[in-house]
Amino acid sequence: MNFVPVIIISLILLVITILLAIADRLLVTYGQCKITVHQEGQAKEFTVEGGSSLLSDLTENKIDVRASCAGKASCGYCKVRVLSGGGPILPTEEIFMSREEKHSGMRLACQVKIKEDLDIYIPDFLTTVKSIVKNKTYDPKLRWQFIKNDQEYGVPVKAKTKLAHNDKKKVHEIIKEYKDVAGAIVPVLQKIDSTFNYLPEPVLRLTAKAIDMPLSEVLRVVTFYNAFSLEPRGKHLITVCLGTACHVKGAGDILCALEDRLGIKTGQTTEDMMFTIEGVRCIGCCGLAPVLKVGEDVHRLMTVKKVQKLVEMYGNA
Ligand code: FES
Ligand code: FES
Repeated sequence: MNFVPVIIISLILLVITILLAIADRLLVTYGQCKITVHQEGQAKEFTVEGGSSLLSDLTENKIDVRASCAGKASCGYCKVRVLSGGGPILPTEEIFMSREEKHSGMRLACQVKIKEDLDIYIPDFLTTVKSIVKNKTYDPKLRWQFIKNDQEYGVPVKAKTKLAHNDKKKVHEIIKEYKDVAGAIVPVLQKIDSTFNYLPEPVLRLTAKAIDMPLSEVLRVVTFYNAFSLEPRGKHLITVCLGTACHVKGAGDILCALEDRLGIKTGQTTEDMMFTIEGVRCIGCCGLAPVLKVGEDVHRLMTVKKVQKLVEMYGNA
């Protein structure tokens, strides 16, 4: 078989593509364009030189958009919602869009070329993180399940609550305490977590602002460590060891007895906010298994019978 014609056609196409790309760069000028980004309850505006990609302009202006394929239009992670502007959807983008998404203006930021003013919407990063934590996976589509008619919904009301003056003061005091410690984000979050018993959303926003760190970066740390919680926890955190030694000695039965007694499942909090149950892998007392912790108190050689007494003791504390 003679491949020469195929090679010649491919070369011609390649040359045409290169010439078009050069012509586009050198001959077409789009002038200055304004990009308005709605994110985390705020609108940010900046002016860019037209002709570049939306993703690069967003990244340059410190707008956090996931993009794992580096603009090759093959990962689908860089989705944003274009409210106005942005030109027609490209075939490469269509692969990643459901019909519903197409109708609501979803675009791959790496495929949109800035030719005119653009208005875009990026969902609250905290909402995204919460859905990742809840679903234990990152699915780009989950970012958008909270959006309907340009409104965020499904965000718990308490997450929107403003911070009381006293709580603001507490956060500033903690940050001040660590102000001269390099990379103190973990101890700062630990202290905040133990002060509030979890990491409330307004506190995280205030912390990010006060230490001049993007909220997304703070959340990256928060979700990396199991010890941090984005949900309110009870006054007493009961941590049941489910490591091998404890498992063999009946940790499963103890956990069931606790869940039955408190009427909640592992990971949940009682309605009166007294108890939260969590499971961990080994707390370093294997010789005295099965073991559980209530706050910082370690209870060794636990039995199902002792569960009842334990709950009563801390319930009255
Ligand atoms: S960066 Fe991967 S699709 Fe846009
Ligand atoms: S396995 Fe439970 S303390 Fe080690």
